Amino acid sequence: MKVEKAVIPAAGYGTRMLPITKAQPKEMVPVVHKPVIQYVVEEAYNSGIRDVLIITGKGKRAIEDHFDRSDVPKPNHYVTELDKILEEIDIFFVRQKEQKGLGDAVRYAESFIDDEPFALLLGDTITFPPCTKELIQVYRRYKTSVVAVEEVPLEKVSLYGIVACKEVEESVYLIEDLIEKPNVDETPSNLAILGRYILTPEIFECIKETKPGKGNEIQLTDAMKILNTRERMYAYLFEGKRYDIGNKLDWLKANIELAIGDEEIGETMREFIRLLEV
Ligand code: UTP
Repeated sequence: MKVEKAVIPAAGYGTRMLPITKAQPKEMVPVVHKPVIQYVVEEAYNSGIRDVLIITGKGKRAIEDHFDRSDVPKPNHYVTELDKILEEIDIFFVRQKEQKGLGDAVRYAESFIDDEPFALLLGDTITFPPCTKELIQVYRRYKTSVVAVEEVPLEKVSLYGIVACKEVEESVYLIEDLIEKPNVDETPSNLAILGRYILTPEIFECIKETKPGKGNEIQLTDAMKILNTRERMYAYLFEGKRYDIGNKLDWLKANIELAIGDEEIGETMREFIRLLEV
C-alpha cells in the first residue's frame, strides 16, 4: 500500500520554549522566513503527500489561520509559494482534548488514517533534505513500519527514544526493542528516534493498550514497543540535518545555519557573523 497521508502532532505545551510559547504555539515560532510548522507541511508535500492531518489543541489556533489562503493585499513570494502548495493539498485539523503525550495525540488520527500506512512528522522538528521522502523509499522495500533515527552522543540518550537493532543493509536496521529516555548505563545503543516515522495502522490498537510511561504521558515509543512484538519494524539512519525547534539552542542554531545559507540574506548574514567573530 502507498503512503498517501501524513499526521503532524502539534498539541504539546512547549514548556522548554517558555516564555516564547506563553501566548503562541511553539510550532509557529519563526525559523528565518517561515514558522516551523510550514517547513513540516512542506516536507510532507515534497514527499508526495497531499492529505495532511494536524493535531492541535489549547492555544494553537494560529496554526489553523496560517494555512488559510492568504488575502494580504501585497503578498511576497513566500506567501504565494505557500498558496500554491495549499491549492494542491488538503489540511485537516483535530484537537487533542488533553495534553496527555505524543502517543495520545497520534490516537486522534485513527479515523483519518483508517486502514493504511501513514507518515508521522513531529510539528516542532525540521529535517533537510526531507527525511519523510527517504523513509517512504525504505517503506516501499520493507512494507512495514520504519522509524528515522540519528546517532546522538551517549550522554544525551536520556533525552530521546532509543532503539536496539541490528543492521540489515547500509543505513537500515531491524528493530529489536525500543526504550523511551533510557539512562546511559541501560541504553542498548546511541540511535535516537528523531521525529519522523512511517507507521502501519496497527499502531492505533497498540496505543490503546499503552499505559502512561515516562512523565506520566502516553508515550509513542511505548506503543511502538508493543507494535514491535506484533510485526517487524525497521530503523533508518538519517544522515541529513535535523533541528528540534522545541528547545532554544537547536532553534537558534537552525536560524543561524539556514540564514547563512539563504539566497536572499545569506551573504549579508555571513558577513555580519564574520565581523562578530573579530
Ligand atoms: P515534546 O516531547 O516536545 O513535548 O513533543 P511538548 O509538550 O510539546 O514540549 P515541552 O516538553 O513541554 O517543551 C513532541 C511533539 O509531540 C507533540 C508536540 O506538539 C510536538 O510536536 N505533542 C506532545 C502533542 O501533540 N501532544 C502531547 O500531549 C504532547
